[in-house]
Amino acid sequence: MTRILFVCLGNICRSPMAEFIMKDLVAQAGLSREFVIASAATSAEELGNGVYPPARRRLAQEGIDCAGKTARQITAGDYDSYDLLIGMDSSNLRNMRRFFDGDREDKCRLLLDYTSRPGDVADPWYTGDFDRAYTDILTGCKGLLAHLQG
Ligand code: 4NP
Repeated sequence: MTRILFVCLGNICRSPMAEFIMKDLVAQAGLSREFVIASAATSAEELGNGVYPPARRRLAQEGIDCAGKTARQITAGDYDSYDLLIGMDSSNLRNMRRFFDGDREDKCRLLLDYTSRPGDVADPWYTGDFDRAYTDILTGCKGLLAHLQG
């Protein structure tokens, strides 16, 4: 069993996209029973809110449904509950390490570090580019799954 928590600032755009794209990839691979996959925010800005409509529509274009997902904030217990805590950008990673008082088991990662183009997933909340976010996140999730299967 591999337990993955995707993390971004608001938990309404990037990390829910990663959560539902990764769930879709593992389902396609017939591996759903081997994974626990969720997402959370570093901030309290969007708590309780659903996935931002442009992000929801971009997932729907791929046949991916994220109905019912509402934003939640990371909790202290998440560090032990998950094997990997994967931020979307370096600011997320910095906030996670501050929140968890470090990263004593070396579980915190950046999504695009699993790709040939390490770095940040640009935040579509600010760029408006949900296609770019979708492509980056899909590439990251594919790289992550390949890494875990390798
Ligand atoms: P996300 O995008 O971190 O990808 O969910 C954002 C959502 C909300 C805000 C910032 C980024 N906000 O400032 O409320």
